[in-house]
Amino acid sequence: MANRLLGKQAQDTTVLVTGGAGFIGSHTVVELLQRGYNVVVLDDLSNANPVVFDRIRQITGLAADDPQLAFVEASILDRAALERTFSTFPIDVIIHFAGFKAVGESVEKPLEYYWNNVAGTLVLLDVARQHGVKNIVFSSSATVYGEPDSVPLTEAAPKHNATNPYGQTKSMLEQILTDTYIGDDEWNVVLLRYFNPIGAHDSGLIGEDPKGIPNNLLPYVAQVAVGKLERVGVFGDDYPTPDGTGVRDYVHVVDLARGHVAALGWMAGASGTPDGGVVAGDASISGPAAADGTRRGVGIFNLGTGNGSSVIDVIHAFERACGQSIPYEVKPRRAGDIAENYAAVDKAREQLGWQAAYDLDRMCEDGWRWQSNNPNGFEGA
Ligand code: UD1
Repeated sequence: MANRLLGKQAQDTTVLVTGGAGFIGSHTVVELLQRGYNVVVLDDLSNANPVVFDRIRQITGLAADDPQLAFVEASILDRAALERTFSTFPIDVIIHFAGFKAVGESVEKPLEYYWNNVAGTLVLLDVARQHGVKNIVFSSSATVYGEPDSVPLTEAAPKHNATNPYGQTKSMLEQILTDTYIGDDEWNVVLLRYFNPIGAHDSGLIGEDPKGIPNNLLPYVAQVAVGKLERVGVFGDDYPTPDGTGVRDYVHVVDLARGHVAALGWMAGASGTPDGGVVAGDASISGPAAADGTRRGVGIFNLGTGNGSSVIDVIHAFERACGQSIPYEVKPRRAGDIAENYAAVDKAREQLGWQAAYDLDRMCEDGWRWQSNNPNGFEGA
């Protein structure tokens, strides 16, 4: 069976975006629409607000009834809804974001996390293949590397045990997708390992909208800046890093979204090494390009900037962006945190033709615009 992406222009390609109403999903939908792709979002709105679709239309200039964007409100566990979706729309490729993602909650509710993330993906893959759809880009995470042996992390770095069920689901799903390809080489799989996505679309219309008190650094800092929270707790200042605070590779969510567009191009055989071969020692499995010219195999790519920033660097960058000082206090280390990680980005540059364009200051400026225009997120919009 020929790859459904073969020889198609964006205008003739339909992308199913699971979790497309969420933070990274919504930014990816914007980038896809702006390039002419047809998009079907499937999202159960368990951690998203449908106002995001009005905002996406505002950014892209799409009319409410424009068929370029469709929305199905359903969970990936809902086989009947998936059947209807694949029967209704001529889906060529899936970008799969849908999943629970709160690290702490995953420790308390492991069954919910494994059920939603792992079982849900199994249902999605089964229905997709029955409809002849065997192209998938998966939303993975640098969390699969666990405690790094050294930085920067290349894709060939060994995976270590995740310290929580959320991270385990990412690791397991990478394995499930890899085995799916091994069992049936008509599949094309891209595993995108995100580092720390932050920032927002520069329109200030969409951005991260966490429920309750944020767990992650940037939304926390932003809510201190807007006056909703008192001060940032800095989790440890005795790490073996230049200023003692944790170092991460923060990447602008719009850059990340564009990485997904690049992954679609890679699958269709557009960029990358001519024979589909991989860098020696790489963890990817990649057969030669298929006779039809499309990519075959499992492509694994880090999406990061390659730069590490400390918690204090982030606080200072956000202060520059919002023009006020951000109070913070040093607290004990958070369980499960690592000192430092940042990405080696050569592979994504060479094979996907993708690299991050925006620096930390820009991420904070855009994040601040979103937060200050929407202090309560999409709520009440
Ligand atoms: C976390 C998850 C990771 C997940 C990612 C998604 C953990 C242990 N890891 O990554 O699995 O893929 O989010 O975005 O939760 N920090 C503070 N104060 C805060 C919050 C964070 O000092 O209030 C520090 C942390 O110690 C860390 C850095 O800020 O050094 C970034 O933390 P965070 O934004 O939570 O991301 P990660 O822990 O890197």
